[in-house]
Amino acid sequence: MKLSPTSSFLTISLILSVVIVKGTKILGISPNLEKLYENNRVISTNKWKCLNNPEIEINWDQINDNICDCPDGSDEPGTFACNLESSSSSSLFYCENDGFIPRFISKSKVMDGVCDCCDCSDEALLPSSIPLSKTSICPDLKDEFDKLLSIELENYSNSKDKLLKLFKKYDMDFTSLDQTKDMGNQNGNENGLLEKEKLIAELNKLEADSIRHNNLLSQEKENYLNKLQLNNPILYDFEQKINSKLLIELTNSTMIQIIQVSSAFNDIMKILDELTLSYSNSMNDRVVNNNVDKYFDLSRSIQMNKINANPESDEDLRVQFLKYFEDELPNLIEFKKIENDVKYNVNKAAFVKGLIRGKAEYTETLFNLINQFSEIMIDITENYNVNFQDQGVKIAVDSFKNYLTKYESTLGLKRIEMPKNLEDEFDKLINFLEKALPVLFHSNNDDDDDKNNEANEYSHLLNNGDANNGQIVDTSDLLSLKKQIKSHEKKIMKLQANTLKKKELLAKLEQRLIRSTMHEEKEKEKEMNAMDQTLLDILNDLMIKIGSDKIIDTVLDNYKYEVTINPKLPGSIFQSEMKNDKNVVKIGELQSVKLDKKLNLQKYIEHLKIVYPESSLISHLMNETTTKKGDLEIDYLFGNLPDINNGLVLEYGNGQQCWNGPKRSASLFIKCGTEFELHNVYEATKCRYVFDASGPIGCYPNFEYSP
Ligand SMILES: *[C@@H]1O[C@H](CO)[C@@H](O)[C@H](O)[C@H]1NC(C)=O
Ligand SMILES: *[C@@H]1O[C@H](CO)[C@@H](O)[C@H](O)[C@H]1NC(C)=O
Ligand SMILES: *[C@@H]1O[C@H](CO)[C@@H](O)[C@H](O)[C@H]1NC(C)=O
Repeated sequence: MKLSPTSSFLTISLILSVVIVKGTKILGISPNLEKLYENNRVISTNKWKCLNNPEIEINWDQINDNICDCPDGSDEPGTFACNLESSSSSSLFYCENDGFIPRFISKSKVMDGVCDCCDCSDEALLPSSIPLSKTSICPDLKDEFDKLLSIELENYSNSKDKLLKLFKKYDMDFTSLDQTKDMGNQNGNENGLLEKEKLIAELNKLEADSIRHNNLLSQEKENYLNKLQLNNPILYDFEQKINSKLLIELTNSTMIQIIQVSSAFNDIMKILDELTLSYSNSMNDRVVNNNVDKYFDLSRSIQMNKINANPESDEDLRVQFLKYFEDELPNLIEFKKIENDVKYNVNKAAFVKGLIRGKAEYTETLFNLINQFSEIMIDITENYNVNFQDQGVKIAVDSFKNYLTKYESTLGLKRIEMPKNLEDEFDKLINFLEKALPVLFHSNNDDDDDKNNEANEYSHLLNNGDANNGQIVDTSDLLSLKKQIKSHEKKIMKLQANTLKKKELLAKLEQRLIRSTMHEEKEKEKEMNAMDQTLLDILNDLMIKIGSDKIIDTVLDNYKYEVTINPKLPGSIFQSEMKNDKNVVKIGELQSVKLDKKLNLQKYIEHLKIVYPESSLISHLMNETTTKKGDLEIDYLFGNLPDINNGLVLEYGNGQQCWNGPKRSASLFIKCGTEFELHNVYEATKCRYVFDASGPIGCYPNFEYSP
């Protein structure tokens, strides 16, 4: 049998993915992410939601199937199927490296035929036919690392002893260092993280509950409707055909708009009425006087035409309409409680509709007048004579400004329209009532305007619809079903409210976590600075006490170097040629002393590379991180080992002028070591030198290893 490369690749990766997904571990993610992945899983359906796009659901075993399904790439943490920007946290692959130190590598190193993880997990999904190149395996690296660690720590311990001896020799007190040392507690965030996990779990449960209840609810509804259709076809039709909710909503909102117009009309008249009573006619402000006259004319015509608006009675109407839909109609249809006769009840719906429409149409008249009043007030506001200091006018102008803000959303309109769909719903209702009520209440329509029940789909119920016939009876069962549905709906609403609350909590918690992380880092930095400052002071004292002793007096590459480190004298670096010992050059004098953490890390890595030139250990300790800006950064996983060195750097300047160049200067970096030694000198830029040295004063006296 011949398999094409792709199909064999697919087969293999499918087999692999099954194996890898079946276990609890998902390839390529760190343990703390595992919980997030687990949280997004719906066990019952074996579905899984993309981490940052929970609206997208895939099958759980589509994770790491080498096909990108989630926009955030979260379904492919172990493959490079999702082509992600490096700024995304999913652009990193987690090497579990069982037996050694876990680390993150860039996704670009995944499935490339080279094992970057010492457990080769970055190549686990590669077809087994492709040969892998391996540098080191985890157990070997562990041995190597342990060896390195013990040598480094032993050398440190010896060097530190030398430093303590120096302190003793010069009778120095260094206990102040211990007081700033206390900086171990950092569990503030851990609590927050636990809380966050708990919240996420609760949220997932709530969402699952909500789905379950929604399913139950729709079953209940279906069940209810089926029974209803059988037992009470009229009520069934009412519930199916008439959108009560829409009727209520639209009636409510239309009435509220109408009330707004009524009260806008009344309010502006009030402003003008008050103005006419309080303004000073005698001031002879022509603008005001003319406009007041205009208003008198207008209000006379309003009285004559009996135009009025009453927001209170409109509000009463709104309440009555809502009651009609919410109580009266259901009572009528469901409980067959009728007041007055059938005809009255059919007409009532039409009456309500007509009333709303009439009220809406009337707003055109009101708007028209409101606009005329407004013009009067606008003219006064813009053109009245401020110098007259007429209080009555001023008050009216201020009131008008408030008025404009209060009715901002209403004033631009020409009239309130009765919504078309509200009219339609009313028509449906009227139509339904015309047919259903006579049947429901056994009215034979024996009035003179006998329309008959010819085309009435409910007529057949009338014939055999007696109380002792089985058709429209025993609604208690239905009622209890309906109650159940109502209470279920309430429960779901509560669940949703609860979910919302939890989501808000979660968002707040996340904010807090970010803030507290930043705060913690700052605090740590502060402590660190305080500690470094104390150490620096002590080292300064020590260097003064060492005085003019040459800590280094060494020949290196045919040059002799003499170094003193007293900050007060000040210390200096001299270089002389071995061939011609008269040619002595002053490289510089000591100008400043500092502890440089960043340089220290760099120097420490250099040191490891020099001491262990053959080992791939260092590269397996590189941990890749994406910065907020999206750059890849490397940090190293040897814990605080570089802190063996305190990062001591002595800056020398103002040396002998170079021929055709600047004055000489140098940085002297002193790492922790038992003896003062010079290891390397190089010219970094013209006449600027770097001295790599070691000695006890380069040690951190309080160092304790932590991974
Ligand atoms: C440890 O100290 C010894 C003796 O001082 C030295 O030879 C060796 O290079 C040092 N090793 C490291 C890793 O610094
Ligand atoms: C009527 O509308 C008001 C304002 O929008 C709203 O507050 C109220 O809940 C509504 N009433 C009903 C029964 O819809
Ligand atoms: C290693 O990298 C990961 C991912 O970039 C990061 O979250 C973690 O803090 C790093 N670990 C160390 C010890 O620097």
